[in-house]
Amino acid sequence: MLSEELLEYPIIDCHAHLLPDLDDGAAFWDDALIMARQAVQSGTQVMVMTPHFRQRRYDNHRKKILHQLDQFQYRLRKAAIPLTVLAGAEIAYDPAIPHLFDQGIVQSFADLRTHLLIELPFNDVPPEVDELLDQLSHRQITAIIAHPERCRPVQQAPSLLLRWRTQGVLFQLNGESLTGQAGPEAQACARQLLSMNLIDLIGSDAHHPMKRSASLAAARTDLLKHLPPAQVQAILYSNAAALLQITDPS
Ligand SMILES: [Fe+2]
Repeated sequence: MLSEELLEYPIIDCHAHLLPDLDDGAAFWDDALIMARQAVQSGTQVMVMTPHFRQRRYDNHRKKILHQLDQFQYRLRKAAIPLTVLAGAEIAYDPAIPHLFDQGIVQSFADLRTHLLIELPFNDVPPEVDELLDQLSHRQITAIIAHPERCRPVQQAPSLLLRWRTQGVLFQLNGESLTGQAGPEAQACARQLLSMNLIDLIGSDAHHPMKRSASLAAARTDLLKHLPPAQVQAILYSNAAALLQITDPS
């Protein structure tokens, strides 16, 4: 079954920490290459590298990320690993995000300048989030909320996302939430958000070859068990492909 799934349901992974020396993800290039192989073996064709951005803790400016991406692309070519990698960032909630974007500091999703992957605090949703989303939409930027199923207020009230949905916000699910590795609350919330059709994109949130791997094979199998194939295909590939302007799975 896995090989059929591999062929029929390729994956675009929208959230991964493979670039070394930037955050708490891969520590060495060797680990990054191991995770890249894991991804390819599970059917991932494209991966957006999303190192943490948090002022004064992870000062991963756009230029720094692009430099590491360039290195990674060179190493992938040398190792003949057929994985397309793009630049992004997981930007911790901060009211200064629009200002930092205007200054060219924060890295947009896939360097498109149209989307930002934003991580909300896990324990509370600051009331200023709405103001931030407004400021982004004035700049024609769409927010992608990273793994909302891991946020406690969303776990308690998944319908919290509906208001943002009407503003065009997108939502990215972690594969490990679906398979239970992030705990029962995240898993239950993930299922609920999927049933409400509130999930647009998937990410491995890979950090380490063993502890938080880059394979989304188990998540894909789980999605196929619970959802219609067209919805699975949209979450795994076509929603992200449309955003990234990728036409055909290769
Ligand atoms: Fe992450």
